[in-house]
Amino acid sequence: MTNTDEQTALVRCTDLARTYGSGRAAVVALHGATCEIFPGEHVTLMGPSGSGKSTLLHLIAGLDEPTAGSITWPALGDRGSLRPGPIALVLQGPSLLAPLDAVENVALPLVLAGLDDSDARERAFAALARLELSDLHAKLPEELSGGQMQRIAIARALAQRPRLFLADEPTGQLDHDTARHVIDVLLEAARESGAAVVVSTHDPAVGNRLDQCWPVVDGSLKVCRARSTDQAGASCSA
Ligand SMILES: Nc1ncnc2c1ncn2[C@@H]1O[C@H](COP(=O)(O)OP(=O)(O)OP(=O)(O)O)[C@@H](O)[C@H]1O
Ligand SMILES: [Mg+2]
Repeated sequence: MTNTDEQTALVRCTDLARTYGSGRAAVVALHGATCEIFPGEHVTLMGPSGSGKSTLLHLIAGLDEPTAGSITWPALGDRGSLRPGPIALVLQGPSLLAPLDAVENVALPLVLAGLDDSDARERAFAALARLELSDLHAKLPEELSGGQMQRIAIARALAQRPRLFLADEPTGQLDHDTARHVIDVLLEAARESGAAVVVSTHDPAVGNRLDQCWPVVDGSLKVCRARSTDQAGASCSA
């Protein structure tokens, strides 16, 4: 029996599609996407720019609704209970709130989820420390570099201790060594808690760090659940 036979899926997508706009301006960003994600799985969505990775991650996070097909979260509950809650999403673009300093940004989802202020700040400081960002805790977003903001957004997701961790190109603005460290921390935290991780990237160096690599090409997802013996060590690419 495999891992996936024993557990309830965190998310189940069936023939999922998302078209933006309508008529002649319609853009089919994603079509026919069918997949399940189970606790403890570590998946890379690998594909070129415009292939549909962010679209799929936003659907999985419950931020957006499909135009066809269905998505459910069998082990997590309904759309309204996902965030703040069992799913944490690191967006591809800037996502810190400008008036809040770094630790307040990291603590905010915890407070919204019902934690009291001091516990939320304690967890926020611990997440910042884990990503070696303690020195930046009192900085406002406007005082931070793009890469620092990106890492604080990752700390914010880690602090939530999600059951499903989604990160949309989390290393896009980072140098090679910092990117490696961020992925190390992410995978270590996920292993400790048994959380699943789904990371989108174009970077094979990131893709090769995760157990599974699912190509996304022209809005089409291919689920590759296990790297075969032949694939072991082979490069993850779309
Ligand atoms: N809000 C939107 N309105 C119209 N078209 C959109 C919208 N968001 C995305 N698209 C289009 O949908 C397609 C998929 O976009 P998506 O952002 O999912 O790609 P991606 O794989 O994340 O790309 P990247 O690697 O550049 O982040 C692209 O053709 C894009 O132009
Ligand atoms: Mg994207």
